[in-house]
Amino acid sequence: MRYGYFDDSSREYVITRPDTPLPWINYLGCEDYFGLISNTAGGYSFYKDARLRRLTRYRYNNAPLDMGGRYLYLYDNASGKYWSPSWMPTRVKLDEYECRHGQGYTIITSKLNGIKFSARYFVPLGESLEIWQVTLTNENTSPADLSLFSSIEFCLWDANDDATNFQRNYSIAQVEIVDEVIYHKSEYRERRDHFAYFACSEKLAGFDTAREDFLGPYRGWDAPLAVEEGKSRNSEALGWQPMGSHHVKVQLKAGEQKQVIFLLGYQENPKDDKFDPPGSQVINKKTDKPIIAKYLKPENADKAFNTLREYWTMLLDKVQVTTPDEHTNRMVNIWNAYQCMVTFNMSRSASYFESGIGRGMGFRDSTQDLLGFVHMIPERARERILDISATQLKNGGAFHQYQPLTKRGNNDVGSGFNDDPLWLVLAVSAYLRESGDWSILDEQVQYENEAGTESPLYEHLQRALQYTLDRLGPNNLPLIGRADWNDCLNLNCFSDTPGQSFQTTTSKDGTVAESVFIAGLFVLACEEMAGIAEHCSDQAEVDRVQKSAAEMEKTVWAAGWDGEWFRRAYDDYGHALGSKENVEGQIFIEPQGICVMAGLGAENGNAVKALDSVAEHLATPHGIVLHQPGFTKYYLHLGEISSYPAGYKENAGVFCHNNPWIMIAETVVRRGDKAFDYYTRTNPSAREGISEVHKCEPYVYAQMIAGKDAVKPGEAKNSWLTGAAAWNYVAITQHILGIRPAFEGLEVKPVFSSRWDGFEVTRNFRGVRYEISVKREGPENNVSLEVDGKSVPGTVIPLPAANTKTVKVKVVVR
Ligand code: BGC
Ligand code: NOJ
Repeated sequence: MRYGYFDDSSREYVITRPDTPLPWINYLGCEDYFGLISNTAGGYSFYKDARLRRLTRYRYNNAPLDMGGRYLYLYDNASGKYWSPSWMPTRVKLDEYECRHGQGYTIITSKLNGIKFSARYFVPLGESLEIWQVTLTNENTSPADLSLFSSIEFCLWDANDDATNFQRNYSIAQVEIVDEVIYHKSEYRERRDHFAYFACSEKLAGFDTAREDFLGPYRGWDAPLAVEEGKSRNSEALGWQPMGSHHVKVQLKAGEQKQVIFLLGYQENPKDDKFDPPGSQVINKKTDKPIIAKYLKPENADKAFNTLREYWTMLLDKVQVTTPDEHTNRMVNIWNAYQCMVTFNMSRSASYFESGIGRGMGFRDSTQDLLGFVHMIPERARERILDISATQLKNGGAFHQYQPLTKRGNNDVGSGFNDDPLWLVLAVSAYLRESGDWSILDEQVQYENEAGTESPLYEHLQRALQYTLDRLGPNNLPLIGRADWNDCLNLNCFSDTPGQSFQTTTSKDGTVAESVFIAGLFVLACEEMAGIAEHCSDQAEVDRVQKSAAEMEKTVWAAGWDGEWFRRAYDDYGHALGSKENVEGQIFIEPQGICVMAGLGAENGNAVKALDSVAEHLATPHGIVLHQPGFTKYYLHLGEISSYPAGYKENAGVFCHNNPWIMIAETVVRRGDKAFDYYTRTNPSAREGISEVHKCEPYVYAQMIAGKDAVKPGEAKNSWLTGAAAWNYVAITQHILGIRPAFEGLEVKPVFSSRWDGFEVTRNFRGVRYEISVKREGPENNVSLEVDGKSVPGTVIPLPAANTKTVKVKVVVR
């Protein structure tokens, strides 16, 4: 069952009924100012950091789930009837409803009793504000006498404190109301130099800034008394809960249309120039006034919207594909690429499943998110790499998370996730492959953000690899630490106390439990490092990492191979996990993917064996589950993984993040049909027809789809912020379609479905546009290349002469 459709020509998903199985959301903003917006206008906004600079309040785990946001109310001054043109929160049945989610904007339109409503929400590039462009049309033959009420609830900046410290917070709110602008300035009197504004383009009939005055006692957003009575209270918040609401009267003749613009923005003032006049308590508005004036003009708002659209056309244009499969086309060309930008910006901080409070930017997450984003804006990837590596520990390890506002490592979570640093090597390598900007390796970067500790980024990579070698266990496999990629495989935790964090509780000294996954990742990272070192003519380093990789590989065959598949780990007792010896958790997906990606088993046939075992034991119609059999009870020595009921999350759910590793592994063993089959199973667009089962948005990946042990297999959860975005993008574009940046050129090495005749790709790479056409002439995936009419040996297109604009590539696959 569908709740909408893809409009590919306008790059939008169109939701045609408001009661989607879950809120189907979108993100506004792609630089510093961000908002989450649902298909019924729920959500919230923040500046840079969802925890520390929250502009509007949002209550998670509410009933209904999505309550609170950018709500507008229409009130018929003649009949006294009112409704929400975004359906929520009044849920008055609408005659027409549509929500269009696009890249960085959302448009909700509806109609009731001949009154057509449309609101376009977006954040102009380069600005710290969001625009709500509302258009009202009277499609009746008689005049309409309407009131339009806006509403938002301000958050007292620190979202965590806002949701917990009521004894103080109920007494600190302050606002200013100047003409059509409502200013939120809690704590501005003291240490904050920032405030929020909520502006309206029209003369006001009234306003409200005190929530309880607007709503009325014992009422919620579904029935505010001010709206019910068609009359604002002109309330001024001092303490309690600050909000913003404008009341605009709109008279429309038959057929008449009117635009009303609202702006919600964030503004900082110089610390020594906060007040105007100086010495007063009045906000200095010289900084925000011109911005407000600018965007309250419809022509400027339109212009900003068109610029945003063009910006996205430019970004998406960097990779465009035409294949025989529409799901591949729209995910690669539009939605998967867009989701990669969102995960790059948000890491795992703020979604409808991530509260924006608990987690900042993950070291492991951000380095992987970069893999799917780097081609869009390499300069931003560069900056991110330098920020992240400056949080790296001197011993080569990593803070597991860092805060986006401060860019400092997060002490609460600390370090000791032993896979973390290795991802940095993959991220830097991806950046170098894409940009060819080798100068980044010479950048002097601090450790732990400490002045005086600077060393070239190149050395950061060496220390990252050394970190693994310094931590080998009894089998010479890497020690797992608190966890590896699987945050819930906590082999040193042994927690029997409710409420303890599985990730940060360590009751073992960590000298026994080992990870085969990290071993595979290490070999992969060594290969990348060897390529980097080779380019830098550092033969000693090439030899060193190749030797380490070869030794690690030997160790894997000695201790990490179970006969039919790769083992997962060794626990604190020294027992294998992910082995036939186990009763539950006999086989895991992660080592099969990463080890084959690292090239293990290509020669001895074990790669194929491992992947066949995946197909036999782990593959389901909804994707590949994490392991089997799922854990049916809590195992003290395994940790959080066994805390989930089987079929959910890390306990045998389908993790959309590591399914692509198997797809890529299948391309390594050159089985294009299998790779593409797996790709299709979790492709959200291909699952659109079962939206009542899948439940999450059909245009983006979710972290998890419930596995075969679950009560509702196929039900997705934790949409949007997941490494699934980057890895699926990498799997389809770089390995299945096979267009992959190499250090010295663009590689074309597709391993795709034998049923396809071919496909076309345009790819902007280092300033050159590659027009690639691939034709299948035989069932295998052997490639012959012709570049600008000349045949080229191998699979890498050498870099063209300077000033080349376009390169035409013909690929025949037999
Ligand atoms: C989740 C993981 C997550 C971890 C760290 C666990 O509860 O299942 O997916 O990575 O928490 O926040
Ligand atoms: C989500 C975390 O953000 C990511 O870092 C981790 O790898 C996966 N969960 C799997 O546990």
